[in-house]
Amino acid sequence: SLTACGGSDDTGSGSDALVLGFSQVGAESGWRTANTLSIQESAKSAGVELKFSDAQQKQENQIAAIRSFIKQKVDVIGFSPVVVTGWDAVLKEAKAADIPVVLTDRAVDSDPSLYVTFLGSDFVEEGQKAGQWLVDEYEDAKEPVNIIQLEGTVGSAPAIDRKKGFEDTIAANPNLKVVASQSGDFTRAKGKEVMQALLKANKDVDVLFAHNDDMGLGALQAIEEAGLKPGEDIKIVTIDAVKDGMQALADGKFNFIVECSPLLGDQLMEVAKKVDAGETVEKRIITVETVFDQAAAKEALPNRKY
Ligand code: AHR
Repeated sequence: SLTACGGSDDTGSGSDALVLGFSQVGAESGWRTANTLSIQESAKSAGVELKFSDAQQKQENQIAAIRSFIKQKVDVIGFSPVVVTGWDAVLKEAKAADIPVVLTDRAVDSDPSLYVTFLGSDFVEEGQKAGQWLVDEYEDAKEPVNIIQLEGTVGSAPAIDRKKGFEDTIAANPNLKVVASQSGDFTRAKGKEVMQALLKANKDVDVLFAHNDDMGLGALQAIEEAGLKPGEDIKIVTIDAVKDGMQALADGKFNFIVECSPLLGDQLMEVAKKVDAGETVEKRIITVETVFDQAAAKEALPNRKY
């Protein structure tokens, strides 16, 4: 789906407005919905004409959208790549057409000369923060702590990096053991389905680490349906800190959330304008983020916007 919104219509600045083509991953999670809204709202207030395309978590749709942006001669292309690999050809086409590309949220493995900057979180650090919570929580554990890991979309930067950061960090305590690790594709439905199967196969589970809130929330249902108490019988650590996740944390059903901020819109518009004006921007712009325990979630929840 391709929709135009923002900028020129509202400001009356017509064809003078910067045209940004943005290819979004999809609508797989609360995080993604908040990210899309942030980009659309920021485009509007920055007077940027946004051509927005939803790829429904399919790389071929993103490649088609980027080719369509090139054909339409947009000023700047932005995209959040669903997976890390397979972008060289289309990025070279954008370069040949002299259209700068800004990566948001997720990384690619292409030559960095094919894009101007990458704006988003440090996913390895997010995994490390989740792992560090477990290292501290189970500092005195004398017996194995059995962990289930629900991974994000296979081949995506957040799934690869969070897994690495987490597993490297928990290696500090040999009692912390990942007994099963499977993808739930960052969705609530898949998180529930995979957790149901993993609970049947693994009888003695102490901790769930989910790569995002939505999978954690789906798994929470599976845990309750199995007659167990989330947050107590099985401790739950997730990443994102969207409202539903924060509510579960405040309710004592989650134990810890590492924040991943979806509010990248304003920075994206700023970068797009600079790039369009021929100014240089930092090659890597890292989002500033925090962590929440149950008390912090209770405090933050009333003002949580997404
Ligand atoms: O790339 C960011 C990740 O994608 C978020 O953590 C997850 O919720 C989303 O689907």
